[in-house]
This record gives sequence, structure tokens and C-alpha cells, in this order.
Amino acid sequence: MTATDRLPVSGRHTTSGAQVRAREVSFSYADTPALRSAHLAVAPGESLALMGPSGSGKSTLLHCLAGILAPEAGEVWLGDVRVDELSERHRSRLRLERMGVVFQHGDLVPELTLAENVALPAQLLGRRSAARTGAMEMLAALGVDAVAHRRAGEVSGGQAQRAAVARALAHRPDVVLADEPTGSLDTANGDAVMQALTAQVAELGSVLIVVTHDHRVASHLDRHVSMVDGRTTEGA
Ligand SMILES: Nc1ncnc2c1ncn2[C@@H]1O[C@H](COP(=O)(O)OP(=O)(O)O)[C@@H](O)[C@H]1O
Ligand SMILES: [Mg+2]
Repeated sequence: MTATDRLPVSGRHTTSGAQVRAREVSFSYADTPALRSAHLAVAPGESLALMGPSGSGKSTLLHCLAGILAPEAGEVWLGDVRVDELSERHRSRLRLERMGVVFQHGDLVPELTLAENVALPAQLLGRRSAARTGAMEMLAALGVDAVAHRRAGEVSGGQAQRAAVARALAHRPDVVLADEPTGSLDTANGDAVMQALTAQVAELGSVLIVVTHDHRVASHLDRHVSMVDGRTTEGA
């Protein structure tokens, strides 16, 4: 990494946590409004369930918080960093250093093994020796260590989903954003995923936001926010 790649906040990888905040965030896909002044604030060590019907804007809001989408209005903050004003390259770097994201439709690299996928963020951060052991420990915590050396493209959907959760946690980020992380899992494996996610929040004081339709999943989390038509409502 060169000096110009550095974030204003680089090197300040903390485990003390930082608040995640969306203020009046709006976003449209072409002519489709997906977020209308969405609002969210999650404190370090706090976990939140983001609920609501299909199409209500949950994934879009998560992508704005992750710095993948840039909102057309409003603000996204991670601690004292204004995420939406960073360049795309700095947002990617911030995501790598401080966030773990589980995507709704999965995004493991199919040619790599599960262990290689899970080790990737820590490796990209230059923590090579820790990456391998961390990956195996996290895969074991999620009950998929037996298939750690299979390629991601050759395991079941449920195994890939658990590996995606392991990858989001293994580099111990400040913020974990998980989009329906238990969608293809049975109850026991869904509970294992929720235990792994909430254990890390408790241990590191991270922020955890989980998109889910499932009230059993939401019951693992501190607070619930509902979305309807691109708007957030507290206390659902
Ligand atoms: N890539 C896209 N292109 C166009 N419209 C999209 C795209 N992704 C989502 N949308 C639309 O934006 C709205 C919000 O979608 P989304 O954030 O995926 O909702 P949810 O995750 O709650 O199901 C929906 O109307 C959806 O159809
Ligand atoms: Mg979605």
C-alpha cells in the first residue's frame, strides 16, 4: 500500500468500536426510489435487526452503510468518518479494514477453497500468519471446518453461507453487516451463525446489523428497526 492509498483514518484499526449512522439517506436505482430519508444509528457493542417486506430497501441501506453505494442525499458515518464523502477507493479500503459484510446472494470466490476465502481479508491487510489460523478457527466455530479445503463453488448453499459469515468475522472488524445470513440454513445452523455474530459484538464491541425476515433470528439482537417503502421505523 502506498501513502496515497491510505485512509485519513488508516492505522487506527481499533477493537473499541465506533458508532454507525445513516442520516436522512436517499437512494434511487434509475427511476426506482429505494431509500427515502432512511435513518439509523447503532452504538458500539449494539446489535440491530433490520426487518421489513421484500423490496422495502433493506439491502440498499446495508450497501450504503458499507460504502458500496453512495447515497444521492444524506450522510453515512462510521465513528467520525463521513463514509459517503470518501472516494470509492477509500471506501473500499475502509470496508476492508473495518467492516465485514455478508451479502444476500453470496460472493465467495468460487475457485478458492473456503479456508482461502475466509483468510482473504486478513491476508489483504498484510496479516498473513494470523489469516490462516483465524480462518480455520472461524470455520470451526461455524461447523464447516470439515469442508474447509473444498472450493467454494463445490459446497452446498448452506455451507457457503456459513463460510461467508466466517469471512466477515475472521479479520475482527468494527462493523459487521449481514444481509439475511441465515436464509438457507436450518434452525440449528441459523442459531450457530447468530451465536458467532453476537459473540463477536460482545467480545470486540463491534456494531452488528442483520437483515432478516425471521423473528427467531431477530430475537438474538438488541434492537429492531423496520423498513417500509424505503423509510425506517424504530421499535418494530
Ligand atoms: N439493482 C437494482 N436495480 C434496480 N432496482 C433495484 C435494484 N436493487 C433493488 N432495486 C429496487 O429497489 C427497491 C429496494 O430493494 P432492496 O433494497 O433490494 O430491498 P430489500 O432488501 O428490502 O428486499 C425495490 O423496489 C427493488 O426492486
Ligand atoms: Mg434484500
